Amino acid sequence: MGSNPSAPYLDPSLSIPDRVADLLGRMTLAEKIGQMMQLDARGDLTDIVVGRSVGSILHTSPERIVQANELTQQTRLRIPLLVGEDCIHGHSFWPGATIFPTQLGMASSFNPELMKRFARAAATEIAATGTHWTFSPVLCIARDLRWGRVDETFGEDLHLIGELATAVVEGYQGEGLDDPTAILATAKHFAGYSETQGGRDASEADISHRKMRSWFLPPFERVARAGCRTFMLGYQTTDGVPVTLNEWLLTDVLRGEWGYTGTLITDWDNVGRMVWEQKIQPDIAHAAAAATTAGNDMVMTTPTFFEGAQQAVADGLIDADAFDRAVERILTLKFELGLFENPRLPDEARIAEVVGSHQELNLEVARESLVLLENDGTLPLAAPLKVAVVGPVADDVDCLLGDWAGRSGQAEMPGGQPREMSTTPLDGIRALVEARGGEVSYARGSEIAVLLPNPEGQFYPDGQPRMPIIAPAPTDPAQIAEAVAVAEAADVVVAVVGDNIFLCGEGRSTATLNLVGGQNELIDALIATGKPVVIVLLASKPLILPPSAEHAAAVVWAANPGMKGGQALAELLCGDIEPVGRLPISFARHAGQQPTYYMQVRGQHGTRYADLTQEPAWAFGEGKSYTTVTYSELRLDAAELGLDDDVVGHVTLTNTGTRPSRETVQAYIRDEVTSASWADRELKAFTQAWVAPGESIEVEVRVPVSACTIVNAAGERVVEPGEFTLLVGPSSRVSDLLGAGFTVA
Ligand code: NOJ
Repeated sequence: MGSNPSAPYLDPSLSIPDRVADLLGRMTLAEKIGQMMQLDARGDLTDIVVGRSVGSILHTSPERIVQANELTQQTRLRIPLLVGEDCIHGHSFWPGATIFPTQLGMASSFNPELMKRFARAAATEIAATGTHWTFSPVLCIARDLRWGRVDETFGEDLHLIGELATAVVEGYQGEGLDDPTAILATAKHFAGYSETQGGRDASEADISHRKMRSWFLPPFERVARAGCRTFMLGYQTTDGVPVTLNEWLLTDVLRGEWGYTGTLITDWDNVGRMVWEQKIQPDIAHAAAAATTAGNDMVMTTPTFFEGAQQAVADGLIDADAFDRAVERILTLKFELGLFENPRLPDEARIAEVVGSHQELNLEVARESLVLLENDGTLPLAAPLKVAVVGPVADDVDCLLGDWAGRSGQAEMPGGQPREMSTTPLDGIRALVEARGGEVSYARGSEIAVLLPNPEGQFYPDGQPRMPIIAPAPTDPAQIAEAVAVAEAADVVVAVVGDNIFLCGEGRSTATLNLVGGQNELIDALIATGKPVVIVLLASKPLILPPSAEHAAAVVWAANPGMKGGQALAELLCGDIEPVGRLPISFARHAGQQPTYYMQVRGQHGTRYADLTQEPAWAFGEGKSYTTVTYSELRLDAAELGLDDDVVGHVTLTNTGTRPSRETVQAYIRDEVTSASWADRELKAFTQAWVAPGESIEVEVRVPVSACTIVNAAGERVVEPGEFTLLVGPSSRVSDLLGAGFTVA
């Protein structure tokens, strides 16, 4: 039975289950195995599509999508391809697409509604290019700042991650898969990938089931229940078992307890890695059989899965019909997307209309991504002024866009994004300051890093490029002298320092969190001029400033703020907008303090290191505005509650300054006594409100008692009746929080 135009699976009037059953019944074993494969479209397309009859391709282009689609016509059943791509903060691989701030930058907004609009806009651009599926969002909890992929996360807090990730999934998937602007979302990397050893990417994650349930699983559960259609499985092993084979995680929890019916995709060569990297399978036939039995649906970039899985059947390692469930799930997605009727190929007219068209929204997101950490009143800058812009990333487009964009190791776009689409800090400050009659001068001041060839060779065994060695660039006294001269001739210095695209990303964890290269000396020298120095940290993740930065006039963290980042930053410095971003992640004072997340489990001897406080430099939730807002009079509607009630608190916010502020009012719950050790406090709700100068407003916070849970020693998530405290304030720091006690009967 081949592709007969009157075959039931080609009849759109039939139900999807009927079409799937009919098609599955026509497929050979090799066709089923091929359907479970996703291969890199930069390879030999004829071999991929015709030779292996793969179900999906990634890392492609409009030309290759069209070519691959034509090749499906040479296959027996003409099953359309699912086209997947890493569209991480915009269409990463597309020259001219709107590149938004990184996920960590966007998380500073604490604004799910804005995240949903970002994802809707990105999906519109992505769908136009013939891509059906993005490998986004990342739900990993960033706890070790040395990890190279901190920038891809929503930060350290599971509640914030759950809120923002759900909004992003809803934005990508739109009104339903039959919406031509909808794309499939992927919750990744399921689960615990970020809990590395020493920050080493994809190393063993030492997480008990209880710890998984406590912190790492809840964001995934939320998006699973919210209808996220695909999940990507992390690289790492836990307790000796790679996620790819983790029956507890995949079968008992995800598909069992949560009732997840979506599709699972492995990460890059997870199946092959079990043989060549983790060395827990003797050969690809065993690895293919084990991965299929464990419930993986789509196998990413393991070309030998095709031969290995067939060999596994021939050797009796697995039954021939063991592939059916996976194939059914993949075909179901294809029918739901309507690909058999319309393969959703790249649409030139739509591309011209929508790709890159979301710069207004991008600017809005960039504004909300900036976090003002310190300010002695120098900001907003008075006009007109002579401003010296100094620093190695002040005019660095790649750093502006971050990983998974432009020339970053992930996107590999040799020419980068079109330069004119991006506004660097230097561009933005120059435009705004000069428009007000001021003057802007610029000096680079230092280099960051130099690249050295990796002595272990250029490629890994699977053909993936091995990262070069990144060595700190030597301090150049002449460059610093030039910067000092520029600073001395100015009224105010804006020092834009940070990391670059070689110091973040997959396989690019860092041992240090300090500024690299000549940057610390540069800051020391600028501070020594006595001029007010505004430090802008354009850094993929929290980094540590040198001690001299205590004398800075102001500090702003900009993450990687996307194409419009420099404009947003200039507006913030000049006071055209209010600083509204709040930290989604804590900043350490020293790499040896890791981890510095606020949600530490209670119980240790003392509260500090002998030689250093354990307090972070800046804590989760912190961020200043251009005014002062006091929080007072926290009161509860009721202090004796049952399991079905809500904890309802009211707090008064008073703006005692002269500018408005958008406050992110954070509500934490402390369970006073727990049956198993637990975090001192956990964010359970947040709400945003503008407070005008001189105004007092009352803000309500609401937390369901059913959310005041812990995971007990038996691994069950429960509300334990007893004493609790609702803590409300502008950050996670205990000193910033008002408390009100309540009891749960
Ligand atoms: C590996 C990364 O871990 C994952 O996040 C990404 O989606 C895949 N490669 C595909 O590029």
